[in-house]
Amino acid sequence: MSEKRGRLKDKVAIVTGGAGVIGGAITESFCREGATVVVSDLESSKWSDFLGSLDIADPDKVKFIEADARDDKEVKSLISKVAGDFGRIDVLVSTVGGSKDALIHKMTDEEWDSVIELNLRTTFLACRAVVPQMRQQEYGKIVLISSRSYLGNIGQINYSTAKAGIVGFTSSLARELARYKVNVNCVVPGFIDNPRLALMAEKYRQMRMELNPFGTAALPEDVANTILFLSSDEARQVTGQAIHVASW
Ligand SMILES: NC(=O)c1ccc[n+]([C@@H]2O[C@H](COP(=O)([O-])OP(=O)(O)OC[C@H]3O[C@@H](n4cnc5c(N)ncnc54)[C@H](O)[C@@H]3O)[C@@H](O)[C@H]2O)c1
Repeated sequence: MSEKRGRLKDKVAIVTGGAGVIGGAITESFCREGATVVVSDLESSKWSDFLGSLDIADPDKVKFIEADARDDKEVKSLISKVAGDFGRIDVLVSTVGGSKDALIHKMTDEEWDSVIELNLRTTFLACRAVVPQMRQQEYGKIVLISSRSYLGNIGQINYSTAKAGIVGFTSSLARELARYKVNVNCVVPGFIDNPRLALMAEKYRQMRMELNPFGTAALPEDVANTILFLSSDEARQVTGQAIHVASW
């Protein structure tokens, strides 16, 4: 556990898709820096096991709200519950995302639509819901998650399109919100070590690792540390940026 510096002391953060690999690392690092974290994800039944697996000194600082990030009503209700309970929302990290790979001539409508929806529409819905609160309080940090795949990847037309969309979305929203002292940035992770890697053929593991200038897989904490910086006041003059982690 790294030293606690209170960089998010008394801040209230929402992490959508927070019960995933990167979401868990974000939750740990935010708690360590003094935030209250509201994790939102699909299945509340899995939450207590997941929370138990995290390295968190005070589990009472983490709340869980079940919400489907693709559903506008559920997202609005999540945001209004957090704003009502805590009186403010300082940080939104939208991590919901995922891929369904296929070459374009084999890609189904469902594979296209669902990946655009899961990565891009969820980002739009979460931001649209939280912006009125952040505008009103004249403070906020929004961090979105793209992927190195936005630069192009065979078999990922749907995913790379959605993740490229997040880079443009970030740039536009940052321009809309700077006047309200709201920062909007995204991180662009490359190859991140996670339990799913065990399922990947060695040839593809190697190919992915070669895209990292350090020639290795990064850890979820490497992404979380960058998100922590972008969510803190240390980054108050950083907005509209796409920050690569484990890629270039
Ligand atoms: N892990 C990597 O190597 C990597 C690399 C680049 C980008 N990314 C991006 O980082 C983000 C997080 O990735 P991860 O590896 O932690 O993924 P993950 O699959 O471990 O976590 C995603 C979480 O989102 C939740 N989720 C899925 N659909 C949802 C919905 N409709 N509503 C609410 N929650 C939902 C899942 O239950 C899961 O807990 C994603 O956007 C992913 O595209 C990951």
